[in-house]
Amino acid sequence: MYQSHLLFQIDSPAYVLEEEKLDENLAILNSIQEQSGAKILLALKGYAFWRRFENLRKILSGSTASGLYEARLGYEEIGSRKEGKEICVFAPAYKDSQIDEILEYATHIIFNSFAQWQMFLPHITRKNKLLQNQNLAPIQVGLRVNPLYSEVEPPIYNPCIPGSRLGITPEAFKEGVKKYGLEGIDGLHFHTHCEQDSTALERTLPHFEKHFGSYLQGKKWVNFGGGHHITRKDYHRELLVKLIKDFKKHHNDIGIFLEPGEAVGWQVGFLIGEVLDIVHNQIPIAIIDVSASAHMPDCLEMPYRPMVKKISRQTLNIESDLGENKGAYTYRLGGPTCLAGDVIGDYSFQTPLNVGDRLIFEDMLHYTIVKNNTFNGVPLPSLWSIDSQGEAHLLQRFCYDDYKRRN
Ligand SMILES: Cc1ncc(COP(=O)(O)O)c(C=O)c1O
Repeated sequence: MYQSHLLFQIDSPAYVLEEEKLDENLAILNSIQEQSGAKILLALKGYAFWRRFENLRKILSGSTASGLYEARLGYEEIGSRKEGKEICVFAPAYKDSQIDEILEYATHIIFNSFAQWQMFLPHITRKNKLLQNQNLAPIQVGLRVNPLYSEVEPPIYNPCIPGSRLGITPEAFKEGVKKYGLEGIDGLHFHTHCEQDSTALERTLPHFEKHFGSYLQGKKWVNFGGGHHITRKDYHRELLVKLIKDFKKHHNDIGIFLEPGEAVGWQVGFLIGEVLDIVHNQIPIAIIDVSASAHMPDCLEMPYRPMVKKISRQTLNIESDLGENKGAYTYRLGGPTCLAGDVIGDYSFQTPLNVGDRLIFEDMLHYTIVKNNTFNGVPLPSLWSIDSQGEAHLLQRFCYDDYKRRN
């Protein structure tokens, strides 16, 4: 926990990690690994706050990457095969110019088509010979499949919508097997969840089994992807453990990977901003120094409404938002960019909002920092952490050069 005066010592805007909350998530993920026998990898696409990976590195089995840069970050900051860590890479397609460097880091590489597997097979064979000479485990190869079943909404997040490019369909898989066989394929991967309970996995597994279960003979692992909301309070963890254990039993103790991003960074910190001005157009509008468009794009994409708290500069009182139009004082919160729609939402409080007050946007550490941009030259928020003693630490400040180098 932190004292409210601390929130005026931290930069604005800033993303602030609450270290104890991350540790609580890690303890939950650790117990799932221990009880189920599955390996949990951090999906860096969702949460990449590497400056505080000390405890995460001790607990999680490795990282999942969407390509070269994330693979390298996982290698550098979570660990490599030499430290017993897995680095699982999946990309919808790989580039010839990057594949050899990816193979420097990857312990597992997953292809989205038989054609890409065949195209890069000589690179993998070459790399595996070198690894063998060093007495190191070879890179394992997988294929991403589409089990034609996902409950995810909205469609932008659903990898099984008709025409999706993500994962090999059962029909294409059958053709691929006919043409190339499955020798050299160590495992299969599916990713069909987003912020879901294990009950969704329970309904998904029969579809995976129906289309791809027969190909698992002699394979080493299945990767159940991300989107499992394991650290959410009401998530059915016992069911997850049971599903994994049953699946392993049914498939000759096959290895299981889970690769959550959001469940690792779920409710571990906030984005802090400051009220710069209050203007009026039908309702009072607070203009703040954080932008939906640049700093929390899911508010516009999903759309998603974060919980907000205000901290009065005068009294240091912390007040939670009472819900749209539910309090005496309602404000539209809008960002500093030129985008008319750079609006976070309408929020109500018991007392008025004043210029200089601080606002906390809750649960803002996943799918935010990794998506930041400098649209309008808006500065990137600083990165801070609060430790278990309630002390704040500056981890990184960004500056004009970060903006200039991107343009
Ligand atoms: C292939 C894959 N794995 C893992 C994840 C992580 O998902 P989440 O952060 O929802 O757990 C994603 C997210 O899009 C993904 O596409």
